[in-house]
Amino acid sequence: MQILITGAAGFIGFNLSKYLLDKSNVRIIGIDNLNNYYSKKLKKDRAKVLMKYKNFSFFNINILNKKKLEKILKNKKINVVINLAAQAGVRYSLIKPSEFVDNNVQGFYNLIEVAKKYNIKKIIYASSSSVYGDSRTFPLKETQNIKPKNIYALSKKINEEMADVFSSQYNISFIGLRFFTVYGEWGRPDMFMMKYLSSSFNSNTKFYLNNFGKHTRDFTYILDACKIISKLIFSKKNFKHEIFNVCSNNPQNLIKIIKKINFLTQKKPKLFKRKLQQADVVKTHGNNKKIISFIGKQNFTAIDIGLKFTVNWFQKYYKY
Ligand SMILES: NC(=O)c1ccc[n+]([C@@H]2O[C@H](COP(=O)([O-])OP(=O)(O)OC[C@H]3O[C@@H](n4cnc5c(N)ncnc54)[C@H](O)[C@@H]3O)[C@@H](O)[C@H]2O)c1
Repeated sequence: MQILITGAAGFIGFNLSKYLLDKSNVRIIGIDNLNNYYSKKLKKDRAKVLMKYKNFSFFNINILNKKKLEKILKNKKINVVINLAAQAGVRYSLIKPSEFVDNNVQGFYNLIEVAKKYNIKKIIYASSSSVYGDSRTFPLKETQNIKPKNIYALSKKINEEMADVFSSQYNISFIGLRFFTVYGEWGRPDMFMMKYLSSSFNSNTKFYLNNFGKHTRDFTYILDACKIISKLIFSKKNFKHEIFNVCSNNPQNLIKIIKKINFLTQKKPKLFKRKLQQADVVKTHGNNKKIISFIGKQNFTAIDIGLKFTVNWFQKYYKY
């Protein structure tokens, strides 16, 4: 099987590529434009790890460049496209909304057109738990109304709607994944956990605790997300378009997570507490029954274990 993974130097794209290369006999074409939204070095280091596998090829291209995309895919028989390339970051969406329209909406459209042209039958794409907005009905279910409260979340809702339309027009099956705060090894430096770890080991890095720590997140360990995506890749089920929550169904308050991390690191960085930030949602807690009934039994890693792996990786990678 040959798989195209976009955003392969990103957090989820890298971990998924590595997981598939380690566990199955697939060929992966990885694409990433290595943008500088966060550390390019981290992205390059991830790509370097993948390039050691003989079944992996990497292309530094932008999914907005349809010509280059077509050139790469022209003579290759791709079975599945996994679109993990996107502009992420809820807060950044207030600063640079155009990046979200370009990379997330136009970029996804390009991939769909290229998939159609080369007769690719399955597209798995990243949506986000943020499409739910400030819903108060927990656990969040795929069937409930969604109400994005920032352009990042809106770009994901548009992706879902595009998939809905094109799944009925083209001979392509779509799977949309609403990821809930994925964390773990090689994690994103712009997200809570990596920011907190940076402050733990570097007293010059201020840690701002938003909403005075009253946020609750349904943290989902990266390896669990990779296992789920892998099962979806190999699934032979027939469908047009399905959307799934990818979550552990185990919401955690941020103060509790901080205490657990302090215990693991034996550090206690100063917290700069501040009010709820614009565009942030207060709580996420997803229902994961739909994905479990689709792929079968799925164990979710306990938060204490996931945190231990994350902290160990952080100390090793950043040499603390
Ligand atoms: N990590 C999470 O907790 C989480 C939660 C919800 C949704 N998501 C979604 O999952 C997907 C992957 O997220 P991630 O955490 O790995 O983010 P990431 O930023 O680490 O990875 C995205 C990668 O895509 C690349 N990229 C961006 N625009 C591109 C373009 N136009 N062409 C080629 N490459 C491009 C970036 O360089 C980056 O390496 C994103 O769509 C994100 O919105 C992630």
